[in-house]
Amino acid sequence: MIAVVTSGKGGVGKSTVSVGLACALASRGQRVLVIDTDAGLRSLDWMLSIGDRAVCDLSDIFSRRCEPSAAIYESPLCQNVFVIPAPPTLEGLASPAEMQYLCRGLAEHYDTVLIDCPAGIGRGFRLATSAADRAILVTTPDRVAARDVYVASTLLDRLDISYKMIVNRLRVKPVLKGAMPDLDEIMDIAQVPLLGVIPEDEAVTISTANGTRFPKKCPASAAFDNIAARFLGENVPLGKLK
Ligand SMILES: Nc1ncnc2c1ncn2[C@@H]1O[C@H](COP(=O)(O)OP(=O)(O)O)[C@@H](O)[C@H]1O
Ligand SMILES: [Mg+2]
Repeated sequence: MIAVVTSGKGGVGKSTVSVGLACALASRGQRVLVIDTDAGLRSLDWMLSIGDRAVCDLSDIFSRRCEPSAAIYESPLCQNVFVIPAPPTLEGLASPAEMQYLCRGLAEHYDTVLIDCPAGIGRGFRLATSAADRAILVTTPDRVAARDVYVASTLLDRLDISYKMIVNRLRVKPVLKGAMPDLDEIMDIAQVPLLGVIPEDEAVTISTANGTRFPKKCPASAAFDNIAARFLGENVPLGKLK
């Protein structure tokens, strides 16, 4: 299975979802490869605590400076989660056909390949989506981000890629006070079926800042476990907003 994690709008949590879902799938026994396609703005190497160990990246594979296996690093944070770091510049990106060829080959060695997409719907989006069987669209509970998910979904329709949406950083109190759009409104704007909801969780911000794994017991981890189960086809109810 090859899934792309995309959004349209930047900063909504694509890389966070890639990491959280990868770790949740791995704790269910999967071998997961995450490919960072955010050229120039790589983040998965630090978020998955690879840091300076990464010598090769995606561009080295495309330019044949190294074998794919030399650009794949296992995350010390999470056993059975592997990452290919993003190229340092946009010039390091290949054509969609080359990306498709690479990902299809890699998918034979992993249960799931997650492709972390850059923001926007330009060249990086086309490259990241080129190899995907399905897409996870990430939004925050914000009307602009939800509309951008709608726009991205229309492009995925043209590519014949099925998709579901994650609403990330949901904060219940302001929604109940009527100060922020609720889930129904976000779903009306995006018009994309829901894969899951991740709460705003300070543990996530702290983990990202330090390149550590979020604690097993935090609310976001519980949400990622449910999302991983649904991603694998299990029927897990969404639950109610308290
Ligand atoms: N559920 C969450 N709770 C708290 N902070 C979050 C959550 N999701 C993402 N963040 C924070 O938002 C910032 C942007 O997330 P990131 O995954 O890098 O977005 P993107 O990849 O879409 O640009 C990061 O600092 C991250 O820690
Ligand atoms: Mg990112």
